[in-house]
Amino acid sequence: MRKPLYIPLGLLALVSAAFVGCESETSPSVKSQAILEMKRANDFHSFSRPEEAVVTHLNWTASIDFTTRIITATAAYDIQSAADAQRILFDCVDLNVTAVAVDGAPVDWQLGPAQPIMGQPLSIPITGDSKNVQITYQSSPDAGALLWVEGEQPFLFTQSQAILARTWIPCQDSPGIRFTYEAHVDVPAGTMAMMSATNPTEQSADGHYDFTMDQPIPSYLLALAVGNVEFRSVGAHTGVYAVPELIDAAAYEFAEMEELLVAAENLYGAYAWERYDLLVLPAAFPFGGMENPRLTFATPTIIAGDRSLVSLVAHELAHSWSGNLVTNATWDDFWLNEGFTVYFEQRIMEAVYGREISEMLATLSYQGLVDEVDQIMDTNPDDTHLKLHLQDRDPDDGMTAIAYDKGYFFLRLLEETVGREEFDGFLKTYFETHSFSVMDTDRFIEYLKSNLLNSPELLAEVNLDAWIFGPGLPVNCPSVGSARIERVDATLEAWESGAKATTDLPWNDWVYQERYRFLSNLDDNSSADRLAELDEVWSISETGNNEVLFAWLEQSIRSQYGPSYPRLESFLVQIGRRKFLTPLYRAMIETGQVEMANRIYHLARPGYHSVATGTMDELLNWPI
Ligand code: BES
Ligand code: ZN
Repeated sequence: MRKPLYIPLGLLALVSAAFVGCESETSPSVKSQAILEMKRANDFHSFSRPEEAVVTHLNWTASIDFTTRIITATAAYDIQSAADAQRILFDCVDLNVTAVAVDGAPVDWQLGPAQPIMGQPLSIPITGDSKNVQITYQSSPDAGALLWVEGEQPFLFTQSQAILARTWIPCQDSPGIRFTYEAHVDVPAGTMAMMSATNPTEQSADGHYDFTMDQPIPSYLLALAVGNVEFRSVGAHTGVYAVPELIDAAAYEFAEMEELLVAAENLYGAYAWERYDLLVLPAAFPFGGMENPRLTFATPTIIAGDRSLVSLVAHELAHSWSGNLVTNATWDDFWLNEGFTVYFEQRIMEAVYGREISEMLATLSYQGLVDEVDQIMDTNPDDTHLKLHLQDRDPDDGMTAIAYDKGYFFLRLLEETVGREEFDGFLKTYFETHSFSVMDTDRFIEYLKSNLLNSPELLAEVNLDAWIFGPGLPVNCPSVGSARIERVDATLEAWESGAKATTDLPWNDWVYQERYRFLSNLDDNSSADRLAELDEVWSISETGNNEVLFAWLEQSIRSQYGPSYPRLESFLVQIGRRKFLTPLYRAMIETGQVEMANRIYHLARPGYHSVATGTMDELLNWPI
C-alpha cells in the first residue's frame, strides 16, 4: 500500500467545496464554473439540472426510528449555481418535505407531479449567489431503498443503486454528479451505524455516530446500515463487520481481503479510499454485494466456510476503481462500471489464486452469458447491446449478464488483441486520468481509439460497433478453456450413461466451480432415483456452499424431485438474494408448479427487499 494517502489530481482540480481551505492557484469562482460546466451526458433518470445548479457537499443529520420505520432528517447541501440560476432541482420519491431554507432563510419550494420509476422533482428557488440549501424531511415507511429487519436483532440497511437513493435522501440522483459528505446519525442504543464513509469500530454509548466522506461520490453510493454488529480487523487497511454470531466465520472467510487489495493496487494503481472494509448484511440483502465506498455491503450467503466464494469480494473491491473512481455517466453506460469490474475481478483472482481458478470462473460466466443472450434475444434483442437504451424504463432492467459478461469478454478481447502488458498500461492510465469523474460510452470509444486501437487494422480486428452497438455475441468473442471443467463435463456424461456416484464421481476432490458445473448441467429429466443417489452419497442438500445448494435446488425443481422441497422452501424464506430467487421461482413456473411458487412466495415475500419483490411480483403476477 502506497503512502502517504493518494489524492488524485482530478479530485483536486474539480471539487472546490471540499478544499475551500486549501491553497490553490485556481480561484474559487473559476473552480465552481468548472464544476457547472463539467461535461455530463444527459441523464434521463434524474430531474436534476446540474448546469443550472449542482451540489458539492452534503451535511446530513438524521434520526432512525425502527418503530415507525421512518428516517427524520435534514439534508443541507453546499451548492454551485450558474450566474443566472433561478432554481435547483432534486429527485425525491415519497419524501415528506416539511421545510426548505436557502442560506438560512425559509423559502417556498415545489414538488412536481410524481412519475413512475422517477418520483418527483423538488424545485427550490435560488439565485446565482446562493450557497446552501437545507431540506428537512421524513422518509416513507415503504422507502424502496430501505429494508427494516424486525425481531430480537433489528437491522436496517439501504440499497441506493441504481436510483433508490432518492427514496431516503432528497438528492441530485445522477451518477455524473459527485459530492463529499458528512453525517450525524442517531440510532437506537445497542446498535452501530455504518455508512459509505469513515466508520466506527465500536458501538457508541448514546447511539450517536458522526461520519465523513472526503472523497466525492455519486448519490448511488450513499449507504447506511444499522444493527448490532462487531468489527474485526483482518489486515492493515481491511476489516469485517458482522453480527456477533457471524463475526468469527466472517473474519475467517474474508481473511484474504488485504491480499486482494494489494493485488488490485499492483494491477491498476493506488487504492483511493483509505480503508476497505466489508459488512455482512442479513440474508434478505437482494444482491451478492454492493460496492459502497470504504464499506462493501455483502450477502451472508458467501460465507461458505472455505473461502470458496471470495471472487465476489474481488468484484466489489475492483469497483473501487471501475465505478467508484471512474463512474458510468448514465445507466445506459452501465457496462463501463460492470464489464470493467468483472475484468478487473478476474485479474485479481488470477493474481491471487492462479489462472486455473480464474479460467474456471470465466468458463462458468461464458456459459451463463450464452444462455442469457439466447433468452434476451427472444424478447428484446436491443438489450444485448453493451450500450443500453433505458429511457422511460427502470434502470434495473440493465442488470443482466450483458453489462457484466459481454462487457468482460469485450475487455478480454482488447487484452488479447494488443497484449496484456499494453492493455494493463492502458487501463492504469485510464483510471488515473479519469479518477473522480464520469465516463460515457462515446467518450470511452474516443479514448480507446486515441490510446489503444490506433490503427485501422486493430479497429477492424476488434469491431467496436458489433460489440458496443450490436446484438448478441460477436464472432470474435474470445474463447475460454479449462481442462478441469472439461473433465467435469466428461464425468457428467459418464454418470448420465450409468456410472455410479459412489465410485465414479470425484466430487470430494472438486472445488465449488466444478461442483456447480456438474449440477447446473444435469439433465432436467434425471430420475428421482438418480438424484437421490447423488444426495445420499454427497449430502448435497447439506452443503454450506450456497451456490452449489442453489444449483441443486434448481435441478430438483426441474426434475420435480420432492425430497428437496423442504430445503427449497427454507432457502427461499431465509434468503432474499435476487440472483437465486429469480431462477428458482421461474423454474417452478416453467414446470407447472405455480401453486407451490405462490405458496412459498406468500410466506417469504414480507422478508424480501423491494428490489427482489419488484422482480418476483412481475414474474409471479403478484398479487394473484
Ligand atoms: N453494483 C452491483 C450491484 C447493483 C447493480 C445493484 C445495479 C443495483 C443496480 C454489484 O457490484 C454487483 O455487481 N453485484 C453482483 C455480484 C458480482 C460478483 C457479479 C451481485 O450482487 O450479484
Ligand atoms: Zn458490480
